[in-house]
Amino acid sequence: MSLQQEIQKRRTFGIISHPDAGKTTLTEKLLLFGGAIQEAGAVKSNKIKKGATSDFMEIERQRGISVATSVLAFNYKEHKINILDTPGHKDFAEDTFRTLTAVDSVIVVIDVAKGVEEQTEKLVEVCRMRNIPMIVFINKLDREGKDAFDLLDEVEQKLGLKVTPLSFPIGIGYDFKGIYNIWEKNINLFSGDSRKNIEETIAFNDINSPELEKIISERSAANLRSDLELVYEVYPKFDREAYLNGEQQPVFFGSALNNFGVRELLDCFVEIAPSPRPKASEERIVNPDEPSFTGFVFKIHANMDPNHRDRLAFVKIVSGTFERNKPYLHTRLGKKLKFSSPNAFFAEKKEVVDISYAGDIVGLHDTGNFKIGDTLTEGEMLHFKGIPSFSPEHFRYINNADPLKSKQLEKGIDQLMDEGVAQLFKLDFNGRKVIGTVGALQYEVIQYRLEHEYGAKCSYENFPIYKACWVEAPENPKDPEYLDFLRVKQKFLARDKQNQLVFLADSAFSIEMVKQKYPNLKLHFTSEY
Ligand code: G4P
Repeated sequence: MSLQQEIQKRRTFGIISHPDAGKTTLTEKLLLFGGAIQEAGAVKSNKIKKGATSDFMEIERQRGISVATSVLAFNYKEHKINILDTPGHKDFAEDTFRTLTAVDSVIVVIDVAKGVEEQTEKLVEVCRMRNIPMIVFINKLDREGKDAFDLLDEVEQKLGLKVTPLSFPIGIGYDFKGIYNIWEKNINLFSGDSRKNIEETIAFNDINSPELEKIISERSAANLRSDLELVYEVYPKFDREAYLNGEQQPVFFGSALNNFGVRELLDCFVEIAPSPRPKASEERIVNPDEPSFTGFVFKIHANMDPNHRDRLAFVKIVSGTFERNKPYLHTRLGKKLKFSSPNAFFAEKKEVVDISYAGDIVGLHDTGNFKIGDTLTEGEMLHFKGIPSFSPEHFRYINNADPLKSKQLEKGIDQLMDEGVAQLFKLDFNGRKVIGTVGALQYEVIQYRLEHEYGAKCSYENFPIYKACWVEAPENPKDPEYLDFLRVKQKFLARDKQNQLVFLADSAFSIEMVKQKYPNLKLHFTSEY
């Protein structure tokens, strides 16, 4: 098969949702369709159980599972599908943001009863910013939930999407009869049998045919006809170009648990979802069908065995083919590296492979060469654009609790930050280290891992900071306004890992004051500006 054909058949995507909406259940049903797993329950949810924030066993368990489920690949109808796992827990949102740099499209899962939830909003916003094509799956139709039109409105308003339903429910909850598939023009009746794998559908080209009353009640038929009339009137026709440009989002309804509406979603997905897309690097746009290999690291996972400090770096192949034992250029370090046992992923297993194609993910064993965002090529000096760091929400000083182990602590902190567990800031005026995280859970993860993997002990001290703002240096470094800001705020100035200047503001008010006092000063809320 040619490189072009290999690329065309690939679909690399992520499923995003608020915890409990049904991401794990949907993933599992998709894998069942691909024949990649044999039974339900094979895919483990990596969500952190409620109330388990102090349970280190739980953290370890979660890490173990998330290695296994980082990439789930399967074949379906001539397509090679790669699902990238995205943690739903909000404390791991950064991890999900980074994974979204490696997907070519996403499926958004929404609970029919709960509607759009907080985590969905944040994740969809990131996808919208990047124009990632999205398909919405409204789940748990077997339960009582919101009215379908109200939900579509909510999705449009809260998520800022332009939806068009490609299927529509017939009744809901107790009264749920099935789904009319607008895309395929057929009806799928709901039997509530979760063991059923392949659904039987009844073709229905003309919804006004009296045949409809024979399979669903008169009342349901009348409701469906009027609902569909409204759908055709209110929502635009599906437009693939608009979908691919992130300007329109098709919606499917179903019940993942009952494996209902999932086949329809998958069939439409493989047909409309994009194959690997071009990616921007600082130097140029790289197309997937270029013969030379390029790729970037979007995730690093520490080894579960604390005695072996090697890690697995997950590389998304942007172009060409990745081959085992071929030397590739690590463009940040300027050195060539060879990989003798690159891992590919299939279902929940990983195995050594000789060749992988653009769109695929390879896992590379790493002894400390990689950072998130690093680029590999066959020799060309390229740097793929990643996702900027956002301001953390929690800040704490980190102190050394065992003076004999300060080297270990340094190294541990350094490597955990490369993995993207949290952000490190170093205060300018006294050199103290501050760890910024999205969630409180990360502090426990860091403390636990420093101790178990690096033999170092740390303690934390509260640092009441509201937000990190990146400060852009003026053209004239002697600019009096800039110098005055540096002098007045010196206790709140720090450097991030890239040595960029950061202003750690203690309140929204102090940011406002700075803006007023120094109108020409350029403050940014992300690390790339
Ligand atoms: P997540 O990965 O998005 O966090 O969600 P997950 O798939 O774990 O699903 C969350 C809960 O919702 C699970 O129940 C799951 O069985 C249920 N669920 C998923 N899809 C459907 C659906 O279509 N209909 C109904 N009624 N329920 C659904 P749980 O009790 O929390 O977990 P479990 O004990 O079943 O594993």
